[in-house]
This record gives sequence, C-alpha cells and structure tokens, in this order.
Amino acid sequence: MPDILIIMGSDSDLPVMAEAAKVLEEMNVTFDLTVVSAHRTADRMYEYAKTAHTKGYKSIIAGAGGAAHLPGMVASLTPLPVIGVPVKSSNMSGIDSLYSIVQMPPGIPVATMAINGAKNAGILAAKMLGAHDAEVQTRVLKFTSAMEASVLQKAEILEEIGYKAYLESKK
Ligand code: RP5
Repeated sequence: MPDILIIMGSDSDLPVMAEAAKVLEEMNVTFDLTVVSAHRTADRMYEYAKTAHTKGYKSIIAGAGGAAHLPGMVASLTPLPVIGVPVKSSNMSGIDSLYSIVQMPPGIPVATMAINGAKNAGILAAKMLGAHDAEVQTRVLKFTSAMEASVLQKAEILEEIGYKAYLESKK
C-alpha cells in the first residue's frame, strides 16, 4: 500500500498537484493520487477521509481552489496529518483558496503550503515519513544536497560569466 494519499478537488487542479507527485517519485516515495471533491462528491470525501489511516497511508496531501474546504474537512475526519495546498483560482488568484485552508479552528490542524505549493507538500510528506523511516530520510537528505549543489553551480557560473551573459544563456 502506498505511503501518501494525494487528493484534489478537481482534475483542473492536477497540473499544480502533479508537482507533489513528481517530487515524491524523485524520492522514491509511493503514493495514490485521485480527485475527491468536498462539495461535488461529499460521500466520496467522507469515505476517503474516514478510511485513509486503515489503508496504511501515513499522511494526506489535499489540494483545492476557491472555497477550498477539502483539506479542512478531510482533516476533521482523519487521524492522519493533512497537508493543504491552496490552488491558484482564476477570480481571486488563490487568496480565497489560501484563506479557506489556513484559517482552521483550534483542534483541527492543516499544514498549509503556499499558493500552488504542491512541491513543498510532497517534500514535507517525505520528511514526515523520513522521521520514522531511515531509508526515506536518506533520500530526503540526498534530494536536499542535490538542490544545494545545483544552486552553488549556478552561483559559480553567474560569478564567472557575469549577469548579462548569464541572462543571455537563459534565453
Ligand atoms: C475546487 O473548485 C477545485 O479544487 C478547483 O480548484 C475549483 C474549480 O473546479 P473546476 O470547476 O475546474 O472543476 O473545488
């Protein structure tokens, strides 16, 4: 059974939420991914949230936009940690999604990422898993080291060729 459950309110959230999937794949962390809407498929949301821990998932990443009730409602129904991803909406640029997810009442936490912050949701889920799984933690450390090396390499090139040539090379 996969370790992480990734759900989103609509298939229109997938381009954003796929970033969580990609980074989990990079770290060899298993997941299931599907659409579960708090509003349009309320029974399915209830079923998913109520049973997730019995299926062996260790955390849930939930993304939604607009009146983004999915992460909070799921958090109210599961003992698992829930990571919320506010998806950028067309009318309010995701501020509505962010406020809907982040302002949870005391007692029902949702670890809320930045607007469209699905990549960090994946990394956070891997880190939480890594706290109890040395192999996953080693992969998280490798991922972080690779990121550091990539930034240092960019800095070196920038210092060497100067900002104009660097910008040119990016075109
Ligand atoms: C939310 O409504 C979804 O999470 C999505 O971000 C937004 C729009 O959904 P669609 O109309 O594109 O299906 O529930």
